[in-house]
Amino acid sequence: MHLAFEWSEDLQPPLPGQFFTFLPAMVESSAGIILRRPLAFAGFESKKHAAKSSGYQSAIAHSIYQIRGPCTRALALQRPGSHIDIIASLGNSFPYPDGDEKAIIAGGGIGIGPMLFLAASLAENGTIAQSYIENNSKSLETSISGKEIQLVFGFRNTLFVPKFKEPTYDIPILNTWEKLLSGAFMATDDGSEGFHGTVLDALEFLKKDDKSLEIWHIYGCGPGAMIAELAAFAERNNFPAHLSAEQWMACGIGACQGCVLPARKGGYLRVCADGPVFEADAIDWEACL
Ligand code: FES
Repeated sequence: MHLAFEWSEDLQPPLPGQFFTFLPAMVESSAGIILRRPLAFAGFESKKHAAKSSGYQSAIAHSIYQIRGPCTRALALQRPGSHIDIIASLGNSFPYPDGDEKAIIAGGGIGIGPMLFLAASLAENGTIAQSYIENNSKSLETSISGKEIQLVFGFRNTLFVPKFKEPTYDIPILNTWEKLLSGAFMATDDGSEGFHGTVLDALEFLKKDDKSLEIWHIYGCGPGAMIAELAAFAERNNFPAHLSAEQWMACGIGACQGCVLPARKGGYLRVCADGPVFEADAIDWEACL
C-alpha cells in the first residue's frame, strides 16, 4: 500500500532511514489502547517539485506498507483528504557513502521502502542531506547504469514483487520507484522472478563477479534474518555497513525502552531513538532472531 501525505513547510524534510508514527482517526477514537505504529519514509517531494509534477501546493511525504494489523488496516481504509495523526520525523538517517565507496542498497520485502528513498536521494543529488526528488528520470538511469549505486532487492516470490505503475494514475513518485525497481538486481527465494536465492546469495554472486576492488558500503533494511546476514557479510569482507532495524514500538520517542535491541558492546540500544539505522557491528543481530 502507498501512503502520501502533505508536509508542512515549517518542518525539516525527512531523510532516508527516518520514520514516523501514525494513528488513523478511526482507530484513535475507538479502542483507545492501540499503540501508534511506525512506518519508514519511502520518498519525499519538495513543494516545488510536487507543484511541478502533480499540481500539489505543498511538499509530500511518501511511505509504503503492508496491512499487518488494525492500525494498518484502518490506514488502508482512509480516503484522500483523511486526517491521520502523525509524529515525524523520528530517528536517525543513513550516512553518506565516502567518495571511493560504491553504495550497495539492499532491501527485503517491505524493507525496500527506505531503500528506494535512499537510492533516489543518492541518484538525484549525490547527497542525502538534500533529499528532494527534483528531476526524476535521467539521473536515476545514469546512476544505476553507471553502477555508482547497486540496488539488490529480495522477495519471497514473484507475487510479493511490488508493481508501482498504476494503470489509471500518473503519479511521478511511482514512476521513480518503478525505475529504481527495474534497475535493481532482483532476487526471489523460489526463483520465480530474477535471481534464485536470498539477498545474501545475490550479494555473494555479485561480489564474485566484481573485479573492481571497490569498497562496498552496504545499506540494508528488511527482515531480521536478512539484516543479520548482511552484517556478517559486511564483517567478512571488511565493508562499512549501515542497517536499519525493524522493531515493535510503544512511544517511538525514546522514553519507554520498549524497542531495545542487544548492543554488541553490552547493554541495549533503542531502535527509535538510537536508530533505526545502526552501524553493522553496533547490534548483536544474531541474538535478535
Ligand atoms: S519505542 Fe519507546 S523507547 Fe523506543
